[in-house]
Amino acid sequence: MRTYLFAIISLLSFGLSNASAADRDTREQVSFPKMIQQHMLSNMRDHLVVINEILIYLSTDEMDKAADIAENRLGMSAMNSHGAGQQAQYMPEGMKKIGSSMHRAASRFARKSEEGDPAEAYKALQEVTAACVACHAAYRVN
Ligand code: HEC
Repeated sequence: MRTYLFAIISLLSFGLSNASAADRDTREQVSFPKMIQQHMLSNMRDHLVVINEILIYLSTDEMDKAADIAENRLGMSAMNSHGAGQQAQYMPEGMKKIGSSMHRAASRFARKSEEGDPAEAYKALQEVTAACVACHAAYRVN
């Protein structure tokens, strides 16, 4: 009986502490002009599409295609077409740094993928997603 109660109390407090962690949003809010913000969020949705497509190409062993899409839609080559410079002027330094580290990591992934070593390519891809995670943990727009 005692262990039973203890289990329930632990479960309850686990649930409560989780809820309060979710309520406390410690991310820094960054303000962009409305048009630029919409453009940025639309890019973000495309980033996720690209990650998914990269995983599809890796799973079908089409590493050149994975490299192509990474470089042109996420890598250094994507920076201009995404208006990264226009967005960057509104970003705090830390956010800019994470943003450019993501573009660099995507280009590094593209090179590793072209070289055709899946293990190296996955390692480089994880550095791309690490940048997504780091920025999302630190900043918000709304
Ligand atoms: C330099 C910072 C930064 C990087 C890097 C970044 N994001 Fe974001 N992303 C944001 C911010 C800020 C938001 C808005 C979050 C909020 O306000 O709650 C966002 C929102 C999103 C959204 C939601 C879009 C919407 O319509 O609301 C998606 C999806 C997303 N990001 C995917 C990604 C993926 C995938 C990557 C990596 C390949 C990535 N992001 C990299 C900053 C970043």
